[in-house]
Amino acid sequence: MGLVSFVKTAVITVTGLFSLNLFVLGVASTGAFFIPVGKKKKQARLQAQSELWDLSTQPLPGFHHKFFEAPDGVNLHYVEGGDTSPGSPLIIFLHGFPDSWFVWHHQLSAPAIQQKAHLIAVDLPGHGGSDGFPRASATAILTSVANFIIAQKEKKTSETCILVSHDWGSIVCCRLAPEIGFLFTRCIILNGLHPPLAIANMNRATSSASRMLRTYVRNPTNFALIRSAFQSLKPFLNQMKASYYASVFLLPLPLARTLYTMGDFWFLRLLCKLSKSPNEEIFLASAFGPSKSEAEGYPAAILARQNANKRASDRIAYYRDNLSVGTWRKPENIQLLIAESQTNSGFTGLLEQKEGSFKCPVTIVYGAKDTAFHRPFCFEGLEEYLVPPKGKTGKSYLICFPRDGHWTMIPSPAKESVDTLIESALDGIDGEEMKERVWAVNKDVKFEIEN
Ligand SMILES: *[C@@H]1O[C@H](CO)[C@@H](O)[C@H](O)[C@H]1NC(C)=O
Repeated sequence: MGLVSFVKTAVITVTGLFSLNLFVLGVASTGAFFIPVGKKKKQARLQAQSELWDLSTQPLPGFHHKFFEAPDGVNLHYVEGGDTSPGSPLIIFLHGFPDSWFVWHHQLSAPAIQQKAHLIAVDLPGHGGSDGFPRASATAILTSVANFIIAQKEKKTSETCILVSHDWGSIVCCRLAPEIGFLFTRCIILNGLHPPLAIANMNRATSSASRMLRTYVRNPTNFALIRSAFQSLKPFLNQMKASYYASVFLLPLPLARTLYTMGDFWFLRLLCKLSKSPNEEIFLASAFGPSKSEAEGYPAAILARQNANKRASDRIAYYRDNLSVGTWRKPENIQLLIAESQTNSGFTGLLEQKEGSFKCPVTIVYGAKDTAFHRPFCFEGLEEYLVPPKGKTGKSYLICFPRDGHWTMIPSPAKESVDTLIESALDGIDGEEMKERVWAVNKDVKFEIEN
């Protein structure tokens, strides 16, 4: 191990252990280590799991449980409803950590969306009722989700396809949109980050800080340099402070899993509060996936995931296995599709687009009170990636929900604002008219970048 990677590992481990300690103290202070989970509570949890996952019932009125056997053999669970006729526009929803399809239940149930579109909410690999991979590598996850989307689109005669994503789903979406964005009419990306932009921001901050520090070494009385170095690192440091929980997930696996499982899933219950979900049992049922009673008909992985440690491993693999920046080795069918789209659009290769630019219009939403993602680190410089894509109509946006945190699709009026963004995308309404529609539901919404 080189010195740099040794130092990096040491810093991550120390931060992770420190954070885990804070969480352990948090749990201890609530008494969750010592209070046994009552029979009644266990019963309520199983009941909630049955409501969400029982294959013999409708997951939501008018919706059905479905499975997709991917070419790689991984079986994905999804729920489907709305207008499923071939000519209707398609909307595909991708959830984040620690959720499943259910996190979208409000949008799936909104009459205006249901009447106009074919709605599909899929469980990401390793989550909900879907199979997992031994590793959540970029190639495994992105290929699997891309093949799912391609297969759903092939069943349609309508060209309209909108991708709506949250958290890890948004990171997946931000990785897909620069590669196979030609498949989408628009991506609506909630509470996530765009990895190439975040990395560019991090590199810019660290290299400018280290330049100032090197200058300082030669001018040791110029303390202003230290201050400037600190200033330029600030967005990065604030982001690190905000996502310190993630450092726990990078610790050796037995320790990393502790955060997920300890104190009767104290961390998940904390996230339930942050999400403003009204019902803890339902939130947990969504995060857990099917119980043993519902497991029949689901992939075999569901039985293995009855073990809380196995379940935790599958979920936190998204943090551990380099999904956000690892190389995506695309299978042949996807390479062909990309090549074809370049021929069809008359792409000559001369048109310089920044690496990571979106190939479809995007609507990116963040909550000003999001504890996971901070604007200066995640979105400073976003304009450069919002080059109007060839052969696509529609502008791209960065939108701030000032009163909201990390789950913008759950509390009111954020959820209605998200509905309005989805409806506008369906109706092909853009620009001022779209903004008026959103402001009619939620006048606080700020349109910050438009391109
Ligand atoms: C993640 O993937 C990138 C791109 O392939 C690589 O440069 C980097 O070293 C990987 N990081 C880890 C921790 O494996």
